[in-house]
Amino acid sequence: METRVLVLGIETSCDETGVALYDLERGLLGHDLYSQVALHAAYGGVVPELASRDHIRRTVPLVCGLLERTGRGLHELDAVAYTEGPGLAGALLVGAAIAHGLAYALRIPALGLHHLEAHLLSPLLSTPAPEFPFIALLVSGGHTQLVRVGGIADYTLLGETVDDAAGEAFDKTAKLLGLGYPGGPALARLAAAGKPGRYRLPRPMLTSGDLNFSFSGLKTAVLTLVRERAPDETERPHLAAEIEAAIVEVLAAKALAALEETGLTRLVVAGGVGANERLRVRLAAAAARRGATVYYPPPEFCTDNGAMIALAGALRLKRSSLIAHPSSLKFTVRPRWELETLAAER
Ligand code: KG4
Ligand code: ZN
Repeated sequence: METRVLVLGIETSCDETGVALYDLERGLLGHDLYSQVALHAAYGGVVPELASRDHIRRTVPLVCGLLERTGRGLHELDAVAYTEGPGLAGALLVGAAIAHGLAYALRIPALGLHHLEAHLLSPLLSTPAPEFPFIALLVSGGHTQLVRVGGIADYTLLGETVDDAAGEAFDKTAKLLGLGYPGGPALARLAAAGKPGRYRLPRPMLTSGDLNFSFSGLKTAVLTLVRERAPDETERPHLAAEIEAAIVEVLAAKALAALEETGLTRLVVAGGVGANERLRVRLAAAAARRGATVYYPPPEFCTDNGAMIALAGALRLKRSSLIAHPSSLKFTVRPRWELETLAAER
């Protein structure tokens, strides 16, 4: 008999407040997101204290609105899942406190989840969903990793960035070009009007022979270029296009190398940079040549969201009776948390 599982998911690890309801049998019932982008824009990046204060304001009203829209009552919930880490400590604490408060009052479990595990599993929200095992290319503002996913809680890190994340490379180089925050989408828009190759930037670690990445040299190269050549309005799109091409080429080459090394034919792309159109085109072409398939979460779930947390919570709950204990109001958050330690923990 299928266990009845209705999970409320709460995501507050960075600058988006996300909530969602996931039913193990019926799928995603609804979700809502409040983005703090406008709040942080004036500062050129996320201000942690402002982020946590805003999560306090937004989370409960978002949950109430979601329950009302989906016609569900609190008493129907089987668990509350929330992001325990990694992320900004204060922001994480808001979601954790609200989740545990609710779960304690309702006498149901509160499940602290790994943000990256939720990103890895987010393509399961699409149809068709990829089957295990697959390779996940996780590309967000804080992480760039290639992971072999054998199943829930079966994650093997194959490679990762040794310095900046791919999203960070987009954000920092966008800033050097005078673009606003978040830089990734802004740089991609500017790049659409330019051509790669007019400027030459390095493709860091393309031939390193492993599955690791490095993006901080690219940022320095762009800084030097901007200082020396001071590109004007007509030149900047070409520089943006070259930056995007450099990042995308390395990501695509290493993702393909991971498929080759493991002999797998399914590639899942998760995290905010997965929204990048050039990356999608490049990966599609490379995968087709190899007879591989690329999967993405639905576009609205590429960046941070509550749906991936509710989904991961439901899958965890189904899988393990160990964590199905009502909240005792004891909790912690983990601003730093290695994905690979997960399998051993649960
Ligand atoms: O996963 P995410 O929403 O947040 C975390 O970092 O966890 O990813 C945000 C990152 C930012 O660095 C943003 O600039 C980048 O994803 N991003 C993009 C695009 N959309 C978002 N980068 C390149 N092209 C895009 N279209
Ligand atoms: Zn994220």
